[in-house]
Formats: sequence, C-alpha cells, structure tokens
Amino acid sequence: MTSSTAVPEPGPNAADRTHVAAGGDVDVIAIAPDPEVAAGIIEDTPLEDIFDEGVVARAQDLIARYPVSRSALLPMLHLVQSVQGYVSQEGIAFCAKQLDLSDAEVSAVATFYTMYKRKPCGEHLVSVCTNTLCAAMGGDAIYKKLQTHLGSEEKPLGHNETAGTPNEPGSITLEHAECLAACDLAPVIQVNYEYFDNQTEDKAVALVDALQAGKRPAPTRGAPLTNFKGAELQLAGFFPEDERQYRADVDGPSQAVETLRGAKLAQDRGWVAPVASDVPLPALPSKEGEKK
Ligand code: FES
Repeated sequence: MTSSTAVPEPGPNAADRTHVAAGGDVDVIAIAPDPEVAAGIIEDTPLEDIFDEGVVARAQDLIARYPVSRSALLPMLHLVQSVQGYVSQEGIAFCAKQLDLSDAEVSAVATFYTMYKRKPCGEHLVSVCTNTLCAAMGGDAIYKKLQTHLGSEEKPLGHNETAGTPNEPGSITLEHAECLAACDLAPVIQVNYEYFDNQTEDKAVALVDALQAGKRPAPTRGAPLTNFKGAELQLAGFFPEDERQYRADVDGPSQAVETLRGAKLAQDRGWVAPVASDVPLPALPSKEGEKK
C-alpha cells in the first residue's frame, strides 16, 4: 500500500475474510447487493481466470496515462465492465490490485456512479430519460411501456433488471435515467449510451424488438451501435488504431439541428455576447453596510 492509503488490510482478494469478519452485517451487502454477487465474494474466483494478460496490459496502459495511478480508477472500472458486463467483486479486487488501493476504496467509487453496474448487464443497456422535460414529453409513458413490453403486465421489468439472460445475445437491461443532456430532443432514449432522439412509445417498442432480434438500429446521431461491453471498452479509452476503422466504429455526427438552432439564429443576425470586461459587475454591499 502507498503511504497515502489510509485504509488498512484487508486489501485485494480479501473479500472472503471481510465477509466473515462482518458476519451478516449489511456493510458487505452494500458492496454487493445482489445474492449472485454476494456468492462471488465468498468464492473469490482467481483474478487471472477472469482478467487475462490482455486486460492487465490495458490496465497498465491506463495507469501510464496519469501522473498518479489512482486517477485511472474510473476508466479501469469501465475496462472491467467491458470484460464481465458489470463491476463484480472480482472486478473491484482487480482494480484495487492494479492501483494499489483497498477493495473498500474501489467499492466506494464503483457504488457512487450509476454507470457502474452492480449486476450483470444485458447485451444492450436501454436507458430511458424520465427527468422533468422528457417525462412531460412522454418519457414516463415510454418507460412504463417498455417495462411491460420487456416484462409483462403482471410483472413489469424493474429498474436495472434484464429481459433475457445477461450477456446473452438479445438480452436487454432497462433503466430509467436522469437528464441525458438532450432536452431539446425530448423524449430521448440511449442504447449503450448512443442517442435515439424524439422517441414515442411505438418507436421505443420497435427499437427494443430490433435489439432482441439481433439487429443494431442506427442511432439518431453519434457512433454506430455496438453492445454494452463494446461501449464500455470505448469508455475505458480504447479505440481501433486504424483511422478508417476508428471513423467507422466510433465517430459520427453528434450535433443535432435543434441544438444548434440558437447559435445559428445568433450568427444569422450578427448577435454576439459581450466580452466580460465590458460588463460591469454589480456592486456588492460592504460588510459594514450589511444588516446585522
Ligand atoms: S430531461 Fe431528458 S434529456 Fe434532459
């Protein structure tokens, strides 16, 4: 351990001891809330059986990109998701081992961000924006529709649940998401973080039907559709070296006409924003002048 790491043992691969020490305590369950995952804690599968030399080389590549190794944790968590389709207990131990951190430190980060999945994901991750604007424009109805379409009327698919067997072709994990930063194109859906804009219930059903049938519908903009693991590898920062392949796999138009409409209007009319030095700052009351 580095001197900056305050958390003592147990470190990587000590999850079984951690679990035993905690007894039935919910702390460990907070790290691995799913029973399948909790079982994995006790089994402690050897890391090299899951993360082979190629993955270790990529992890080392990530570490070399940062002046401080622990800065590579976020992309490394995406890297482990590109292997297993989620951040397993083994994935946490792998990151901890590579970065000389404790399992607890890695878990604290992995459980904070919603992009790190705690249960095995489907071949595709379908995220429906149900934040305010999308919800008002039909996002809530789309989410409800997909819940019953991918599940059933009696047992709608829940948030972060998977229709089909995780990692198997055609399987889909459904989630409702906070604002996906495309409010001008509401309601929006993302598949493996690629945008499908201006959705309706019917369009959304057709989209998931196509995914379940093994098709890869073209997103409204952005890169061509891959699968969840493929997207995770890109999010980790690994792209095709061949320029043409890169352009084909990763690149794509990312701006929508709607998004640029305000800028275009300003350009056509010659509107410019004043430079900051032209704008006097409002006077602030002096401390003496403040009301007691
Ligand atoms: S509210 Fe849905 S993208 Fe912003």
